[in-house]
Amino acid sequence: MSAPMDSNLFQQLGLKHPLIVAPMAGGPSSVDLVAAASAAGALGAMGGAYSNAAAIEAFAAQVRQRTDKPFSINLFIPHLIPEVAADRVERAVEATARYRRELEVPSPQLSPPYEEDFDAQFEAVLRVKPACFSFVFGLLAADHVSEAKKAGIPLIGTATTLDEARALEESGVDAVTLQGFEAGGHRGIFGAKAADPEIGIRDLLAQCVGTIRVPLIAAGGIMTGRDIRAALQAGAQAVQMGTAFLACIEAGTSAPYRKKLLETPERRTRTTRVFSGRFARGIENRFMIEMDGKPDAILPFPAQNKFTRDMRGASTTKGSADFLSLWSGTGKGELWQGSAADLIGRLFAE
Ligand SMILES: Cc1cc2nc3c(=O)[nH]c(=O)nc-3n(C[C@H](O)[C@H](O)[C@H](O)COP(=O)(O)O)c2cc1C
Repeated sequence: MSAPMDSNLFQQLGLKHPLIVAPMAGGPSSVDLVAAASAAGALGAMGGAYSNAAAIEAFAAQVRQRTDKPFSINLFIPHLIPEVAADRVERAVEATARYRRELEVPSPQLSPPYEEDFDAQFEAVLRVKPACFSFVFGLLAADHVSEAKKAGIPLIGTATTLDEARALEESGVDAVTLQGFEAGGHRGIFGAKAADPEIGIRDLLAQCVGTIRVPLIAAGGIMTGRDIRAALQAGAQAVQMGTAFLACIEAGTSAPYRKKLLETPERRTRTTRVFSGRFARGIENRFMIEMDGKPDAILPFPAQNKFTRDMRGASTTKGSADFLSLWSGTGKGELWQGSAADLIGRLFAE
C-alpha cells in the first residue's frame, strides 16, 4: 500500500509504514513492543505517563539496545487539581471497602501528588531526545514547546474535536492525533470534567482535513489493512493503533487482561470514569458495572487513578479481570497473538 505522504513528518522520520503503534501506559507498551514496532518500520511509542524521569530514561536506553530505529515518548499533560477533600475520599473508601477486603488489600491512605512530576518527566524526554514527543489531555505549555523545538524534537498533540485540533495547531505542534470515540484507553478530551463529544474517527477526520494544516494521525477502531487504507484515503497521513497490538507476544498486557481480550472477538466496550476519574474505553467488567452507578464515590482524575491502583494490582496478582481497567477500542475480531513485526507485515501486505 502506498501512503499519500507529502514531504511530512513521517517521511522525515524515515518510517517504512505510516503507522504509530500506540503509546499504552500501564504495561502494554513494553520495551519489547516499542522496539519491535520501530524495528519493523512503524513508530514504536513509549507510554511514559506513569513513569518517573529515571524510569523513562532507563526504558529509552533499553529500546536503543534493541533497535536504532526512531521511537516516540508519550506523556499526560498535568492536571492542576487541589487536594481532594477528606469527605470525598471517605465516600470513595466506603464504596470500595468490600472490594479491598475481597482482594485482601488494606484501606488506602490517599495523599498528593496524584501523578508523576511532569516537569521532571519532560526534562527526561529532552535528555533522551526521542524521534517524537506526543502528549494527550491538552496543550503543552509554551515554554515546553520552545524547549522541544530547540532540542529538535517534533511534537504530536491529541485532539478529540476540531476545536482541540485547532488549539494544538496554534500552539505549534508538528502533527495532531485525531482520537475517535472508538479508541481504547483514555479519551484525550482536554477538560478532565468535560462531557465526551463522542465524535467518531470518520467524522473527526472529515471535519479536520482541509482545515488543520499539520499532518493528521487517525486513531480509534483501526484494526485491519482496509481500515488503514480508508483512513489514509480520508486524508490522514498516518494511523495510530493500540487495541490491535494488545495481544502481540511482545506486549506487556497482563495475563488476566490478555485472557479477557481473547475470550470473545466481540469485546463489549464502553467508556467509564470509574478507574481514573477520566473517561476511558474498556471492556465492561464487574468494577465498571458496580461503580458506574455511584458517581459520588469517584474522585477526580488523577486522584481516582492513584486510588484504584492497589485494587488493579491485586486483581492482576489474583489473575482476576474483575477490577482491572481492560482498555480496548470498539474494533472487533480475533486479536493477533504473534509478533508485532508479523502483524505490521500483514497489515501492509493486505
Ligand atoms: C491499553 C491502552 C493504553 C493506552 N494508553 C495511552 C497513553 O498512555 N497515551 C496515549 O496518548 N494514548 C493511550 N491510549 C490510546 C491510544 O493512543 C489510541 O488512541 C487508541 O489505542 C486507538 O484506538 P484503538 O485502541 O481502537 O486502536 C491507550 C490505549 C490503550 C488500548
